Amino acid sequence: MQIISRMCMTADGYVTTPDGIPPQVVDPVHGPGSHGISDFIVGCEAVLMGRTTFEPALAADPWPWPDLEVFVLGSHRTPGAPDDVVFDDDPVRLLEKLRAANKGRDVHLVGGPRTIETFRALGVVDKLELVVLPFMVGAGMRLSESLDPRTGLSFESSRPLPGGSVEIVYSVAAV
Ligand SMILES: NC(=O)c1ccc[n+]([C@@H]2O[C@H](COP(=O)([O-])OP(=O)(O)OC[C@H]3O[C@@H](n4cnc5c(N)ncnc54)[C@H](OP(=O)(O)O)[C@@H]3O)[C@@H](O)[C@H]2O)c1
Repeated sequence: MQIISRMCMTADGYVTTPDGIPPQVVDPVHGPGSHGISDFIVGCEAVLMGRTTFEPALAADPWPWPDLEVFVLGSHRTPGAPDDVVFDDDPVRLLEKLRAANKGRDVHLVGGPRTIETFRALGVVDKLELVVLPFMVGAGMRLSESLDPRTGLSFESSRPLPGGSVEIVYSVAAV
């Protein structure tokens, strides 16, 4: 099992729009499986995210992770969350639950930045995949507001994606 963070980022370095939504959502090519996610997700069996990232998904139709186990870091269970979504307020305990459930495939660490930094600081993030979007938004949240800028990244690969985005894959140095 690898824990792989994969995020979309605008050309001016923001992981949210000024309104706080993931910027890929406003990309004209956005849709099911866009931005390389369909290729990526076949290797995954679970998603891991912070409560702030999870909560908007409750209103999504269809449910974004129909075939994946969902693990959420947060101080309380979000009302209306499906019963099989696992919540915990302790990142180490949540990691233990995730490992206990794992059947060998990878985990998509969806975000946001605070949750990525939490697991990076524990030394359990194996890769960071960035999808750089071909537009700017001028303001929003930056990954490095939370993620330690000393995070050691080693380039692994890159590829162009349909719609003008570029996927860049880095391995993350052990803590
Ligand atoms: N560009 C992309 O691909 C992408 C992907 C995902 C998310 N996003 C964006 O990221 C933004 C949210 O990022 P975020 O960093 O503010 O929030 P987040 O990581 O999604 O969630 C933060 C919450 O997670 C819990 N948490 C995080 N670290 C913790 C720790 N060490 N111990 C205990 N609990 C912890 C806390 O929950 P409690 O408050 O319950 O304690 C905290 O409020 C959203 O606007 C979303 O749109 C973008």
